[in-house]
Amino acid sequence: MSQGEKQIKKIVVLSGAGISAESGLSTFRDSGGLWEKYDINNVATIDAWHRDPELVLSFYDERRKQVINAEPNDAHVALVALEDYFDVTIITQNIDDLHERSGSKHVLHLHGEILKGRSTNTDLELYTIEEKIKIGDQASDGYQMRPHVVWFGEEVPKMGEAEKAIRQCDILIVVGTSLNVYPAAGLRYACPEHADKFLIDPNNIITTEQQFTHLQGTATEKIPLLVKQLINNSII
Ligand code: OAD
Repeated sequence: MSQGEKQIKKIVVLSGAGISAESGLSTFRDSGGLWEKYDINNVATIDAWHRDPELVLSFYDERRKQVINAEPNDAHVALVALEDYFDVTIITQNIDDLHERSGSKHVLHLHGEILKGRSTNTDLELYTIEEKIKIGDQASDGYQMRPHVVWFGEEVPKMGEAEKAIRQCDILIVVGTSLNVYPAAGLRYACPEHADKFLIDPNNIITTEQQFTHLQGTATEKIPLLVKQLINNSII
């Protein structure tokens, strides 16, 4: 870096189901959320897959259909503008593709991607899935195809990469997650002390953690305002 040149700040956005709520996709733990309608143990665990794969597939077929019919909202779109001024990494727990469809370039999916499938034997080869996965659908290695999602009871393969990004960030924005599910929820502890930390959620999440500035409201209300503020501050 030459003298006087400004170093580009690193922003990490940790997003959860709440950022896609205003695109019409249900969250998990709000009233009326998915875990009120479905028993998590029957549809989102590795044991459920072994016990009743058809039920698991139908749950994810439904999720895929809803994602395909959803559109990115103002919060997904606003985040893209940050990339002109900052080095931005989006770490999402969401399996939808709304960050990518709005144009974000560096998106890490901690819990997988519903529009992809893979062999039950390996995740080395991924397949685009636009409709259903059926029992008997095989990957090229002859094993049954499954959704490329992470189930409870499985490793979260992208954790190392996510933790590295958070350790190096100057600004952390946590949006639309109840921070109930580990290891994703624990990522915030890897954030450096000096980083500015914002939390966007209509509810009072981790309000005891004083280093977070809680912007209470929905993602589409608060993200565009925060993005504007961060860009203005970076230009001054
Ligand atoms: P949750 O359903 O647990 O939390 C959603 C959060 O979004 C809550 O804190 C809500 O208050 C907030 N919220 C609701 N509407 C919002 C809006 N319009 N704008 C902003 N925030 C809003 O979802 P996650 O924390 O993402 O994992 O759930 C984490 C993981 O649990 C998921 O990835 C999934 C689930 O079980 C797996 O299936 C492995």
